[in-house]
Amino acid sequence: MLTMVVKSTPNSLPFGAISLLMGGLIYLPLTLYDQNCKSSIMACSVWPALLILSAIVMLLISPKITAQQPTYIYHECTNTSTFTPNSAFSINLNATLSSLLSNATLTNGFYNTSSGALQGPDAANGLFLCRGDISLSLCQACVKASSENMTTLCPNQKEAIIWYDECMLRYSNRSIFAVMEEWPTVPLSNIDDASNPSQFNKALSDLMGSLVYKAPDSSKFFAAEDVNFTTSNRLYGLVQCTPDIVSLDCRKCLVNSVSEIPSCCDGKLGARIYKPSCNIRFESYPFYTEASQPPLSPPPPRGNRKISSVTVITITVPAAFVFIIILSASCYCLLKRKKYEVANEGNGGNEFLVVESLQLDLHSIIAATSNFSEGNKIGEGGFGDVYKGTLHDGQMVAIKRLSESSRQGLKEFRNEVAVVAKLQHRNLVRLLGFCADEEEKILVYEFVPNKSLDYFLFDREKQGQLDWLMRCKIIRGIARGLLYLHEDSRLRIIHRDLKASNVLLDEDMNPKIADFGMARVCGVNQSQGNTSRIVGTYGYMSPEYALLGDFSIKSDVYSYGVLILEIISGKRNSSFYQSDYAEGILSYAWRLWTDGRPLELTDQGLGKSFHQNEATRYIHVGLLCVQEDPADRPMIGTVLHMLTNFSVLLPIPKRPAFCVRSRTVSSSKAMSSSVNEVSITALYPR
Ligand SMILES: *[C@@H]1O[C@H](CO)[C@@H](O)[C@H](O)[C@H]1NC(C)=O
Ligand SMILES: *[C@@H]1O[C@H](CO)[C@@H](O)[C@H](O)[C@H]1NC(C)=O
Ligand SMILES: *[C@@H]1O[C@H](CO)[C@@H](O)[C@H](O)[C@H]1NC(C)=O
Ligand SMILES: *[C@@H]1O[C@H](CO)[C@@H](O)[C@H](O)[C@H]1NC(C)=O
Ligand SMILES: *[C@@H]1O[C@H](CO)[C@@H](O)[C@H](O)[C@H]1NC(C)=O
Repeated sequence: MLTMVVKSTPNSLPFGAISLLMGGLIYLPLTLYDQNCKSSIMACSVWPALLILSAIVMLLISPKITAQQPTYIYHECTNTSTFTPNSAFSINLNATLSSLLSNATLTNGFYNTSSGALQGPDAANGLFLCRGDISLSLCQACVKASSENMTTLCPNQKEAIIWYDECMLRYSNRSIFAVMEEWPTVPLSNIDDASNPSQFNKALSDLMGSLVYKAPDSSKFFAAEDVNFTTSNRLYGLVQCTPDIVSLDCRKCLVNSVSEIPSCCDGKLGARIYKPSCNIRFESYPFYTEASQPPLSPPPPRGNRKISSVTVITITVPAAFVFIIILSASCYCLLKRKKYEVANEGNGGNEFLVVESLQLDLHSIIAATSNFSEGNKIGEGGFGDVYKGTLHDGQMVAIKRLSESSRQGLKEFRNEVAVVAKLQHRNLVRLLGFCADEEEKILVYEFVPNKSLDYFLFDREKQGQLDWLMRCKIIRGIARGLLYLHEDSRLRIIHRDLKASNVLLDEDMNPKIADFGMARVCGVNQSQGNTSRIVGTYGYMSPEYALLGDFSIKSDVYSYGVLILEIISGKRNSSFYQSDYAEGILSYAWRLWTDGRPLELTDQGLGKSFHQNEATRYIHVGLLCVQEDPADRPMIGTVLHMLTNFSVLLPIPKRPAFCVRSRTVSSSKAMSSSVNEVSITALYPR
């Protein structure tokens, strides 16, 4: 294995001229804009000042700017066989390279193509992969430079690979598509050492641990993020696989790359490891374009060697535009709202407007569901029946008609709906609106196409569609949704009925939690942690909730733990009770755990296609969540951290609570609501 030092050679242009030009261009339309909005000259006159300020800031942050140019890093000619000019392979190779180039802007940063008879010795198979964060034009420039340089760097070679900062291009007469390849491996390291290696390595392993999870889950097999390393320093990381391989192979390639860091680049402030199927990189400065975060929050270190010139332009220019768009939008909104508030004076203010905007007309709901016809019914449960419907604008929705028993005052109902509708997260089913009068109370939700988790998980045939990575994604997604309910939203919402049938799956099999906030909307006492009306489902309820009616975020964590074990085993907790040996999934899992063979819990259908360490860790975390004493169970934020960071040490689980047996179901207090598995949000026909 070879290790070398990365160098880069930026060339520069004066930056000030471009800033001024941009400032001028922006100022012009603004002047026009201001004339139209006479009512608020104040708000808009702040504009020029802000612009000048932002230009100055940009000037300070970016010492140099360059045109977009790809940077060559390394190449490898495998020297296995050569071809002669004008041979069949030579012609095929030219065709392949030009096809790659002509497709570079059409595809999403990856393309593979072949010329010549596919399996023949003269076939030229080629592919390129552009870094996930760069523009298509830069991608094309990089593919162009790669294919041009390739032929001079590896003349007459039947196989070669070249890496640029922005892309990788390879070709061979072998078949190289859809196979994971780790050779040749090229590690490159920075010369600078981290000043505090142990702290640095901790941050690095957190960062990489998270990235090797994220990339195989993403559509482009790409992930980039940063972590705090000290209070003033951040660490930036990027990982990517070629998207032609399967995600399990992607993960494997990335994990192997990360495990090579200590041998090539221990304690270095930055490094890259390139393999044909994947690559990883970390630096102490931002070297990629961030999609969501405000770029360049910490100024990058000055000096040519470190800051990539391409980064400067790809970050600052879009940043300036985004900044401007946001500002003009907020200015516009400000004006709009001023007028609106004046018009609505005396009508009760903002909360009122929110409620109004959520209110739907009963007639349109009757029309959408063909008057709540049986054919449109997709589920039923303790709170009422659920119907599928199409609103007049064509939007598919799920409509929940609350049953008689869940009555509360109209005013409270409206207010609670407004509160629940504000809870928005990608792992929560969104509440879109409601309809209420003295007779009917109806909730309208976004329609989630792929039915619920139990539909897949507990069905012998459909189970196969949930591979290991998908299950991991679902487990983590549910934790994220729950974390939002427990800690991140303005209110703390305890779900109280988390179970497989309350987890819906969207078209990409992302989990979305349904039925949160029902206790609020239906007026079940939410203020104290004790209730006489228990809304949970048998098998998922913590003992203190099932027996005493004590609920807390820790009872949700318990339900989540049961869910983890169900997802890993592919078995319904309650199915254990129906079988001959009356043992719940918890005691079964616990027995395997204490016997030192936890992996026997995993779904047989998964075969060997899962990571043993990962599976053991998930089971471990599941067992921590179902411990008998609520105080022993971790908070959901901790759970998520344990699931995504392999470096976190896990405590030893204590014996779980086994007491929720069939006996408790018949006890008078426990069951007044959705005791059966058919719940309100089982959004699919049965
Ligand atoms: C291929 O040959 C070139 C020139 O002889 C050499 O520099 C290079 O290391 C060789 N590559 C491999 C993978 O052996
Ligand atoms: C890629 O380029 C070739 C021509 O070079 C063209 O025939 C093919 O349709 C392109 N592929 C896509 C996906 O556009
Ligand atoms: C790209 O590779 C896939 C296999 O992953 C293959 O099915 C497809 O035909 C290839 N595309 C081209 C244009 O050769
Ligand atoms: C690639 O070309 C070499 C030399 O012509 C030949 O020996 C080898 O079999 C070819 N490989 C494939 C997979 O056709
Ligand atoms: C990272 O550090 C910054 C600045 O010290 C701080 O504002 C931020 O909250 C920290 N983020 C994390 C995830 O610790």
